[in-house]
Amino acid sequence: MDNAATSFPKAPGVGQAMAHYIEKMGVNVGRGTYEQASEAGLVVLETRQQLKTLFHFPGKVKHVIFTPGATYSLNQILRGYLKPGDHVVVSSLEHNAVMRPLTDLQALGVTFSRIPADREGRTKAEDLLPLLRENTRLVLVNHASNVSGTIFPLEEVARICRERGIPLAVDGAQTAGYLPIDFEKLGLSALSVPGHKGLLGPQGIGAMLLAPEFAKAMEPVTTGGTGSASDSEIQPGYLPDRFESGTMNLPGIFGLHAALDYVLTQGVESGRAHIKQCTRQFLQGVQDLPLRVAGPADPELQVGVVSLDFEGLDNAEVSFALEQQFGIQTRCGLHCAPNAHKTLQTFPQGTVRFSFGHETTPEEVAYALEGIRAILKGR
Ligand code: ALA
Repeated sequence: MDNAATSFPKAPGVGQAMAHYIEKMGVNVGRGTYEQASEAGLVVLETRQQLKTLFHFPGKVKHVIFTPGATYSLNQILRGYLKPGDHVVVSSLEHNAVMRPLTDLQALGVTFSRIPADREGRTKAEDLLPLLRENTRLVLVNHASNVSGTIFPLEEVARICRERGIPLAVDGAQTAGYLPIDFEKLGLSALSVPGHKGLLGPQGIGAMLLAPEFAKAMEPVTTGGTGSASDSEIQPGYLPDRFESGTMNLPGIFGLHAALDYVLTQGVESGRAHIKQCTRQFLQGVQDLPLRVAGPADPELQVGVVSLDFEGLDNAEVSFALEQQFGIQTRCGLHCAPNAHKTLQTFPQGTVRFSFGHETTPEEVAYALEGIRAILKGR
């Protein structure tokens, strides 16, 4: 019940694809020109194409950039794009992968505002309007909260940004692979995705998809060897090399390639329907219990992430008891998102977070509910 931290199990074939690379290939890409290096290069290219297809990305494959994960992508977007004097708008439910770089950037003269949200984490798109300033150079929002699962009104906010010509970047950490994301329709400037959550791939590999104009305005935060333009000590200006220095995470890309094969075949909609059903069953099961659901408590308005505040009990102790007595694994605490918890009014006590995955069964959900009831009975 901790799929929001990382999905489990991974898609079929992920482990085999990674083992195949490690045991049978072990080559680099963009360095040698021998046959196996070209074969590996093809897998890298195909994986960019899969991401382009999944997210309806209208740009070229070279604008699909591999990164070590969403945290790196978000750092690259924020630190690479913003300049002293710029203003950014973010949601009230951002993860520290956004808030810590932004707080660092404050020292360089970048300012930010948060779009308010209610106690369930729900945001009204029009609340963005009074926050916009002449120097607002970016809006960056979390598509769904890793704490409450609340889905952000992305379409409406994207329309506001498009109408005003303000670049919009999206943190898809809890939605990539779980909810449809149409880069083109939304008119996004950047999308950050981890490989190891809804895409059902391994850790250590992620991506950012960049609109060409936005990519042009971004400086790389890491420079180094790219296997190209080796006559120069200056970072190449062309993509993807500009943002992909150093040897790539090839085991990760091979795993992600297998995972994306699965996700594209199954379809995001069918996974969403399954997880929505788990969420509905869980929410129905807790509705009469003496606890608070810190979130919308509506499967239509959230992804498969549900945070519970066991009023009168220590949430960390509840999480520990669930694991010790029932083998139910949850994540308690503040989930690297202090302001999300302040918004949900669960700061500093935190919550016990349950998160469902593509293979969670109704029996498992019922068992989790049984565990919760037993702990409440013994209080
Ligand atoms: N950000 C991940 C989580 O919410 C790790 O657990």
